[in-house]
Amino acid sequence: MKRITITGAAGLLGPTVAGYFVEKGYEVLSTDIKPPATMIPNTRFVPANLGNLGECYGVLEEAEALIHLAAIPRAYWYPNEVTFGNNVTASYNILEAAAGRGIKKAVLASSECIYGIVTTKKGLIPAYVPMDEDHPLLPEDAYSLSKICAEAAAGVFHRRTGMQIVSFRLGNVITREMYANFPGFIHDPKPRKPILWSYIDARDIAAACELAILKDGLGSVTVNLAADDTSADITTGELLKAEFPAITDIRCPVDGYHTLLSNKKAKEVLGWKPVHFWRDNVRL
Ligand SMILES: NC(=O)c1ccc[n+]([C@@H]2O[C@H](COP(=O)([O-])OP(=O)(O)OC[C@H]3O[C@@H](n4cnc5c(N)ncnc54)[C@H](O)[C@@H]3O)[C@@H](O)[C@H]2O)c1
Repeated sequence: MKRITITGAAGLLGPTVAGYFVEKGYEVLSTDIKPPATMIPNTRFVPANLGNLGECYGVLEEAEALIHLAAIPRAYWYPNEVTFGNNVTASYNILEAAAGRGIKKAVLASSECIYGIVTTKKGLIPAYVPMDEDHPLLPEDAYSLSKICAEAAAGVFHRRTGMQIVSFRLGNVITREMYANFPGFIHDPKPRKPILWSYIDARDIAAACELAILKDGLGSVTVNLAADDTSADITTGELLKAEFPAITDIRCPVDGYHTLLSNKKAKEVLGWKPVHFWRDNVRL
């Protein structure tokens, strides 16, 4: 399995994932509705609007596996129906085309937003922490709903064709350059409270994507991806006490910096482990 198509190649995450696969010796076709600011070396870029099913077929012509990252990546950025329509149509079409092309392995970028805490305007708090994949999905926004629909579509296409589809519920994506921002927030619990101080290095996401297409027998599965630690230099216990005092069901040690977005399933199912942590990238 050496020929892959990566969507969302002009975005934040796409270039790191595409670069990772190139380094591993894959033939990468990268695609996006707009060209990347910097062309990713040794990839073939083909522009495509995934809202068009024919274009989805086109970018999958030679692919053996699909990494689907393209989306409007947050809530309340565009009008709700634009976000929902774009993301759901793009995910449906690329999976429909992947099925039509006989592709057997796919990865979808889903989001931690799906649990509802990140974008709540009603003060929703986690039922328990760390939030794992069994946590209720209670979002109020169209972006998160689009991710629920994409995950549901993954189930449909798996049942229809047997395609293996791993939907990664990503924590806050951090590229190498973004560690420069960390000193501005690691001592303040407020700014990253809605994301439960999650983060995940884009290189660790890329590694998980490769494992997801190398492994067999996964079916259609949803998996959180988060670093082992939080993005705060405040213990997990202090963060919870200060910002979520009403959470009583706490299922991890709180004296260190344990993530509140569980990555246990990713480790168990994929044999993945994150290796890039902010403490190795930020001078304190
Ligand atoms: N950035 C994060 O912290 C984060 C967190 C959780 C999940 N995610 C998910 O990860 C994925 C990548 O996120 P990102 O931060 O790189 O987003 P991004 O906006 O930087 O990149 C997404 C790319 O998708 C492209 N795109 C959108 N709609 C398209 C369409 N219809 N046809 C073709 N291309 C289209 C955009 O042009 C853009 O370049 C997204 O699916 C996002 O929802 C991101």
